Amino acid sequence: MIEEAAKLLARSRFAIAFTGAGISAESGVPTFRGFNGLWKKYRPEELATPEAFRKDPYLVWEFYKWRMDLIRKARPNRAHHALAELERMGILKAVITQNVDDLHREAGTKNLIELHGNIFRMKCTSCDYREDLKESGRLDEFLAEKSLPRCPNCGSLLRPDVVWFGEPLPRKALDEAFKLAERADLVLVIGTSGIVYPAAYIPQIVKETGGKVIEINPDESGITPIADVFLRCSAVEAMEKLMSRVEVLVG
Ligand code: APR
Ligand code: ZN
Repeated sequence: MIEEAAKLLARSRFAIAFTGAGISAESGVPTFRGFNGLWKKYRPEELATPEAFRKDPYLVWEFYKWRMDLIRKARPNRAHHALAELERMGILKAVITQNVDDLHREAGTKNLIELHGNIFRMKCTSCDYREDLKESGRLDEFLAEKSLPRCPNCGSLLRPDVVWFGEPLPRKALDEAFKLAERADLVLVIGTSGIVYPAAYIPQIVKETGGKVIEINPDESGITPIADVFLRCSAVEAMEKLMSRVEVLVG
């Protein structure tokens, strides 16, 4: 199976990757479906929603600050680095991720589409103010603040710049992702349950336009039925084996 996947990857003309929380599991970042009850017995579905934020912005910000602090301590793992290496080799043209943990960017991936936003970015609930806490260097100060963050422009509440359940995905990111999926002749699907739409359409578009689907996941997922190659193992294990074979094949 690894050999078949490596051959498909080495022979591809326009390969892309589509990743979910599973690729960051080995960096110590809990996946969504593996997350339930991890934080004060809440489920992400109860906190990552506009309703929860309207009802209790303190609770939602406490949850996101907890996750930001956990994620900032995480480091990209060898699967993230392998994707950045495949991009440098000219094989991988883009990474489309559902993750908000910034680990693909930290691993060096250049052409990255974040369908669900980025946990280190904040946006105003009223005007178009945005702040990237890593870029502004205010992450430590922000995590220590007790009061609710307010917009310096208009004074309204600031919220995490991530896509919550029931919210539309950023139009530009989604259009770009669909265009890449139509062009791709191969998609490497890593660590997603493949049940959240419209993101989960990405591998299906590649398939429907005649491309190949390689899936890496220790369990079956919503994508498995359309996978041409299903590598039933963890992201790090599969990507390490895949990289060593691809490097031989492309010479
Ligand atoms: N390597 C690869 N895959 C793994 C690993 C691992 N080490 N550990 C777990 N997985 C797989 C699980 O089997 C599961 O299929 O990762 C997947 C994680 O699925 P989810 O937790 O549903 O995460 P994801 O698919 O990214 O969720 C999509 O849903 O919760 C919303 O917006 C949120 O972006 C998220 C979206
Ligand atoms: Zn504002």
